[in-house]
Amino acid sequence: MEQKSRIKGNVHYVGVNDRNKHRFEALWPLPHGVSYNSYLIDDEMVALIDTVDICYFEIFLDKIKRVIGERPINYLIINHMEPDHSGSLRLIKQQYPDIVIVGNKHTQGMVEGFYGIVGEYYQVNEGDYLLLGKHKLKFYMTPMVHWPETMMTFDETEGMLFSGDGFGAFGALHGGFLDTQINTDLYWREMERYYSNIVGKYGGPVQKALQKLKGLPISVICSTHGPVWMDNIAHVVDIYDRMSRYDADEGVVVVYGSMYGNTERMAEVVAEELSAQGIRNVVMHNVAKSDGSYIIADIFRYRGLIIGSPTYNNRLFPEVEYVLDMILGRDMKRRYLGYFGSFTWAGTAVRHLADFAEKSRFEIVGEPVEMKQAMKELVYTQCENLGRAMAERLKKDRA
Ligand code: FEO
Repeated sequence: MEQKSRIKGNVHYVGVNDRNKHRFEALWPLPHGVSYNSYLIDDEMVALIDTVDICYFEIFLDKIKRVIGERPINYLIINHMEPDHSGSLRLIKQQYPDIVIVGNKHTQGMVEGFYGIVGEYYQVNEGDYLLLGKHKLKFYMTPMVHWPETMMTFDETEGMLFSGDGFGAFGALHGGFLDTQINTDLYWREMERYYSNIVGKYGGPVQKALQKLKGLPISVICSTHGPVWMDNIAHVVDIYDRMSRYDADEGVVVVYGSMYGNTERMAEVVAEELSAQGIRNVVMHNVAKSDGSYIIADIFRYRGLIIGSPTYNNRLFPEVEYVLDMILGRDMKRRYLGYFGSFTWAGTAVRHLADFAEKSRFEIVGEPVEMKQAMKELVYTQCENLGRAMAERLKKDRA
């Protein structure tokens, strides 16, 4: 009987779905869940590639045994040590005491540091091979995609790339795991959100990894999160390529905080003008309601960014500060920035936004607008001017 876990040849999917956790890394919302993917190569020597979150160990083990029965696993290849993938390591080692852990020079210390595991360890370097019988695995070091020990494993026999977090997406899997057999609509936005939330800081390392992988005859991408990609390889690689270059579409994200609606009124006027000037993609986020996960994903998506904040305790509105911190933390590049602020008796919001603007090194567009207390005719016109300046800047980029 054909095994449902089979991806290609004798390579099997043994990952699990998490529809229980509310936030990935205790930070990023998971409305559609997340999968922790693991792969088993059932060759003369059996190799397991990454494990899963410890909460799902029983299901994981059952899936493994449905493929190999009581045969032992010879190798555990660790592409990435973050505990969503290494969480079951200690239990796998207990189950298969003779298993040889395979990783690079950065992995071993983490194996011991997280799980107290010492013993047989096979250290691989860039370009090293591991032969399993029919399968010939080659290792590529891809540091900081997403941690320093991250590497990718390429199965030269089947053309399968085990890419760790690279090319991953949020979203649990609904029955099938192969993109050839499922509706993939959900995963495109969830891939962008995953990239921007988790990997977003590491655009440079992602670009280096993509250069390294260029020219490999990849027929399947097996990431640690989301579907296994066969039909959409070019599209998936293009998303990671564009996002890691901070490339973006024409559009504007208007992010603002507002306690009583006065600063929000400024945001509305700016957005109305953007729309009136022919900018179709305008996304407004009230930071008190929109989760930062979605705000940063939209900032990755669009080239224009306009930020507004009231003055609060002589600083910015707290959730606005959080968004600015996310932007700086991801070393975002190539955005056009406009900003506005408000105050009641002592205005500092615009000054703080100017500090951010300098740190971000974004291209400043239009004149910053500062409002005392509530909307007046002059401020209305200044907000319109800000929206118009952003629209004009974006339209200059049209071919
Ligand atoms: Fe899915 Fe960086 O762990």
